[in-house]
Amino acid sequence: MPDRHRVASVSDVPPGEGIELAAGGRMIALFNVEGEFHALDGVCPHSGGPLGQGALSGCIVTCPWHGWQFDVTTGVHQLNAGLSHPKFPVTVEGDDVFVELPEQ
Ligand code: FES
Repeated sequence: MPDRHRVASVSDVPPGEGIELAAGGRMIALFNVEGEFHALDGVCPHSGGPLGQGALSGCIVTCPWHGWQFDVTTGVHQLNAGLSHPKFPVTVEGDDVFVELPEQ
């Protein structure tokens, strides 16, 4: 059973931005792409950088440490389509944003 966590208010993440947060013992990167929320594992698979602190351009986030880029709507790396970073389901109810995380 996945665990559902309230992780933010809608107003915490304006369109075109992302935040880093902790939930369920994980770091999560939560992004708002034109009003749609997307959540990735917040730890960059390259060397552990904070993806939630990366710049978002359209649906592409750039890791602030060494520039790896991921499509936040799919988790897919932009130069290596075989590399997919974990993505988690997001739901919005009113002003509350929830993320479903697998049990660890
Ligand atoms: S830690 Fe993210 S690109 Fe290196």
